[in-house]
Amino acid sequence: MTNVIVVASGKGGTGKSTVCICLSVALLRQGKRVLLIDCDCGMRGLDIMLDIEQDILFDASDAVCGNCSFAEAIYKSKNNDNLFLMAAPFDAENELSPSVFRQLVDAVKHSYDYVIIDSPAGIGSGFMTAAAPADSALIVTNAEPTSVRGAVKVRKKLEALDMRFIRLVINRFDKKVFRRMGFYPDLDAVIDASQTQLIGIVPFDMQISVVMQRGAAGMESGTAFQSFDRVAGRLQGMRVPLNLKGML
Ligand SMILES: Nc1ncnc2c1ncn2[C@@H]1O[C@H](COP(=O)(O)OP(=O)(O)OP(=O)(O)O)[C@@H](O)[C@H]1O
Ligand SMILES: [Mg+2]
Repeated sequence: MTNVIVVASGKGGTGKSTVCICLSVALLRQGKRVLLIDCDCGMRGLDIMLDIEQDILFDASDAVCGNCSFAEAIYKSKNNDNLFLMAAPFDAENELSPSVFRQLVDAVKHSYDYVIIDSPAGIGSGFMTAAAPADSALIVTNAEPTSVRGAVKVRKKLEALDMRFIRLVINRFDKKVFRRMGFYPDLDAVIDASQTQLIGIVPFDMQISVVMQRGAAGMESGTAFQSFDRVAGRLQGMRVPLNLKGML
């Protein structure tokens, strides 16, 4: 059965697109076949992060308008045989409705183990479209109050959509900055405030930014990338300890 996961956040820039790419690569390493769908209509970026920007002739709106077949709107990653991308419509006015997007995902998902959908920030129409076909959700937050409040709003929206599996990813975590800001006494307080069960903590790592912006996803190494291996394992039901104390 295909797992369809939407990656969302209340505030922009928390790291959703980065999580989509790194988690997909982690799932590949564990032998899975993954379709990434960029649902950030008008603001897509996964094609750049995968270094296939120049290859994209057709996007999700072309597929549903009949400008191409569904298969022609799916592109293979250069670095990975089992990673594929469907790009978001380039123009914001071509945003798909939730029901059309659900039909599209239902039609293409069967040959993949995981479909990972990159949502635009917030709880607007783009988010509603991104969430429509998903059976699971990851909410990406940074360990700061505005971001955490956004996470709570997203969780409530997802619950209203009857989403059963909702987990939190705390991204760009830096213990020195976290202590100096002093918004929360510890990570448990962040998790409590977000009202969402944690699935992983990704440290701040400049290497991630560099690799993503160079479009070299698929060749990662380092501690931040290891945290995605652990999230990928937990998604598959493996018992991988969280070790919150070790983060501080
Ligand atoms: N763990 C991390 N360590 C360091 N930098 C990171 C990390 N995760 C993401 N970033 C950087 O943070 C910035 C925002 O990341 P990204 O584009 O993935 O966020 P987003 O939530 O998808 O943004 P948007 O809401 O605009 O779609 C990028 O420059 C990215 O490289
Ligand atoms: Mg993004």
